[in-house]
Amino acid sequence: MKEVTKYFCGLLLAAASITASAAGDGIVLNHLSTTNTLVRVTGKAPYLLMPVQESIEDARINVLVDGKIAETIYVRLAKSKADFYVPFDLTPYKGHNVILDVVTPQGRGTVREAKSDVCWREMKLSDTFDTTNRETAYRPAYHHTPLYGWMNDPNGMFYKDGTWHLYYQHNPYGSKWQNMTWGHSTSTDLIHWKHEPIAIKPNGIGTVFSGSCAIDYKNTVGYGENAVIALYTSAGTSQMQSLAASSDGGASFAIYDANPVCALESESRDPNMFWNEKIGKWNIILAHPLDYEMLIFSSADLKEWTLESKFGKGLGGQDGIWECPDLFELPVEGEETSKWVLISSINPGGPFGGSATQYFIGDFDGKTFTPDKDAEGNVPTKWLDYGKDNYASVSFSDGPAGRRTIIGWMSNWQYAADVPTQQFRSANTLPRDMKLFRGADGDIYLASEPTAELTALRGNLEVKVKKANAGKKAVSYKLPADGLCEILLDVDARKADKFDLTLSNAVGEKVVMTYDPKDATVAVDRRLSGDISFSADFPAVTVAPTRTVGGRVSLRIFVDRSSIELFTDNGRSVTTNLVFPSKPYSTLTVSAEGGKAKVTNLNVYGIKL
Ligand code: FRU
Repeated sequence: MKEVTKYFCGLLLAAASITASAAGDGIVLNHLSTTNTLVRVTGKAPYLLMPVQESIEDARINVLVDGKIAETIYVRLAKSKADFYVPFDLTPYKGHNVILDVVTPQGRGTVREAKSDVCWREMKLSDTFDTTNRETAYRPAYHHTPLYGWMNDPNGMFYKDGTWHLYYQHNPYGSKWQNMTWGHSTSTDLIHWKHEPIAIKPNGIGTVFSGSCAIDYKNTVGYGENAVIALYTSAGTSQMQSLAASSDGGASFAIYDANPVCALESESRDPNMFWNEKIGKWNIILAHPLDYEMLIFSSADLKEWTLESKFGKGLGGQDGIWECPDLFELPVEGEETSKWVLISSINPGGPFGGSATQYFIGDFDGKTFTPDKDAEGNVPTKWLDYGKDNYASVSFSDGPAGRRTIIGWMSNWQYAADVPTQQFRSANTLPRDMKLFRGADGDIYLASEPTAELTALRGNLEVKVKKANAGKKAVSYKLPADGLCEILLDVDARKADKFDLTLSNAVGEKVVMTYDPKDATVAVDRRLSGDISFSADFPAVTVAPTRTVGGRVSLRIFVDRSSIELFTDNGRSVTTNLVFPSKPYSTLTVSAEGGKAKVTNLNVYGIKL
């Protein structure tokens, strides 16, 4: 019998080798059909470099280790040209038999034709994977980006022992959304981020969608005091909630073997938890996207959850799905009270199209969130950011000194996969500290103040103007040569109809920021900002209420290679917009219409990295 099997296999191998094509050293290919190829890894190098062609469909790759499926990944394996390479890390499987069972989507007429796909020729084993930045024009200089590959939501963020941990929705095998894992970066100053190994990878019950982390000070979950607990959504055929725990401070996570900890009959995701001292239990807020609402649970151990209430039906933006919740308490500045903030990202339905983040102010008793009403008795819809590019903002848990620091994904689902970068896609916003203030209309609002740490970025003071009058005739100042800067100024436009601040470059690309003293708004016009060709949804004029009346405003603007973040009056309003100028903006111009505007303390700092 043994002999027969041997002979049979021998025949199979002989047949397979007829269809084998050339690949790099240490790789043997067996083409089985027009859409199915086995890639046998016989070499010892740690990385298998896979060529990607962005414009085609994903191939499904089952990674067979000693004959069992260890993981399944999806890669746009190059058919006619390799745009770039992504690394498959073989080190966990060292010493084992590794075969990639690849199913490509492109049906070719014959196996001979399928064999000519570029990926088979270009796939190679390598000792290294080159992550040198190739995106010199548009990779931000001081915003967090993934080293390579796709990123969406920041999630699972927490602070522990002087380190800020930022996890993010990451595709390590391409620069479009796929293969969701938790990428991981750490920082001690919220400016410089260190890239850490992937923290949580997909497993049998699904890819790893957004979630949260918190420190379990009292060992309520059973992984020991101060263990870092993660809750996230396992997204397979359906969505369910999973738990994982880290005993090495967030570097790696052990996945709970009795997952899921919450399985509902309808789509639900992005669990965000916090220990609520007032009830001596955890609260978890979970998005119920297709019902346009949030679900609020309590739990003693995060393994058994009790549904306490639902929030949101018929409230706020109802034109898109609700995702990425957060719930926290903050003091109201200058008052004795504190209030709860419930954050809900929605997509689409943002004020300027596509995705955006709304919030509600109210009270929370551990079971129910009761939103405040405005003077007319309605629950107002408030927006965290009035630009087009701040989505899925959630806060770091366990922040120092009661800080509630938030970071958002600096993009929009309308065009995130089409922006003109390739090695990586998407950056995160600058970190912002959340504060509550009472606006002139009596309502309470959330301010987003650039974190104090960011002043460390200030380099040379390139422009310093104590006083200037802005009028019809524009006054210009030179920006740092690399275009990276922080701009600060106070504007008194009580005698003008509007005040313009323009960033422009030598090829006529510009972004115009307009303060309207009567409406108390700031508009940002990026219609001529540079490359806008990749999406009809990209050119836009966004308008933010400053919530400071009286014709005066103080502006603080952070310009990076492909973003502009405009804060007014210590973050009372914020506008985050991407821009893709073909050359850095080199000139700042101020002007006013309908009268003169006074500009004081105009300071432009270069950026020190
Ligand atoms: C929001 C979102 C989340 C989900 C994640 C998947 O951008 O849709 O709801 O967890 O992206 O990557």
